[in-house]
Amino acid sequence: MKELCVIGSLNMDLVTTVGDFPKPGETIFGDSFKTFPGGKGANQAVALGKLGADVLMVGKVGDDIYGAKYLEVLKNNNVRQDGVDIEKEISSGVAIIKVNNKGENNIVVVSGANGKVDVNYIESKWDVIVKADIFLFQLEIPMETVVYTMKKLKDLGKIIILDPAPASKLPDDIFKYIDFITPNETELETLAEKKIDNEDDLREAANILFDKGVKVIISKQGRRGAAIIKRNEYAHVSGFKVNAVDTTAAGDSFNAGFAFALAQGKILEECVKFANAVGGISTTALGAQEAMPSYEVVRKFMDEKK
Ligand code: RIB
Repeated sequence: MKELCVIGSLNMDLVTTVGDFPKPGETIFGDSFKTFPGGKGANQAVALGKLGADVLMVGKVGDDIYGAKYLEVLKNNNVRQDGVDIEKEISSGVAIIKVNNKGENNIVVVSGANGKVDVNYIESKWDVIVKADIFLFQLEIPMETVVYTMKKLKDLGKIIILDPAPASKLPDDIFKYIDFITPNETELETLAEKKIDNEDDLREAANILFDKGVKVIISKQGRRGAAIIKRNEYAHVSGFKVNAVDTTAAGDSFNAGFAFALAQGKILEECVKFANAVGGISTTALGAQEAMPSYEVVRKFMDEKK
């Protein structure tokens, strides 16, 4: 199985559950509060670790209690952490998350130490980074670092997966380095600068990215599943029905599942089916990483849903 590396963010998630989200200017009472490890990068790494992958995390935490706790979380979940340093005099990344009674969320991220993952840091970790074969990126560390690192890795023929989240416009030179980009609908709209209301819009948006150099788009569609889109090909892979409690990190879990199956040498349809299962299962408990499944749990789930 190929070796994986996640280069991205580690956040501590401060999660409150609420009936409905407050309107601007409104104060409401929450039902509960809990702290969970999160961050798009670390979520993907932990999901991979739980599946049993050989995975390295590259990123930074702050010199606070959250940073120290996070190093334990990585260790306990089978994630190699020689790519994670503690940055002095800055907080760890945090995310303030509200989850409503439909399992939907809204999130405010404070970057903290994630903002210090710069090009020099990548250089200092290059010897460990370069040993991996498949790389997962998201957009919670500086964009300059993402572009620089992807270019270096692509020059070496590595496989690159970008989860373009949180939604953000991307510099044009990044697209040619990406093998698989995995936007949800909002992210695809942002990248293509086009409103998507139906499948025709989706294909047109996809073509805008192909013109920029993207090779394959895995279009995440929540509970409906995902589509594999190539220049002249479109295949939809249905999602699985689950009782969602909290969709935080469903996309991260999807990406981890996709990368895991890819590292096993599975064909794309199988990778997306496996990703749909991992993403779906991950929504069944509160907290980004709480319900991320082991490989055995995913297999059993997929067999039962046949
Ligand atoms: O993708 C979910 C993650 O987004 C949360 O864990 C939170 O930390 C934010 O980064």
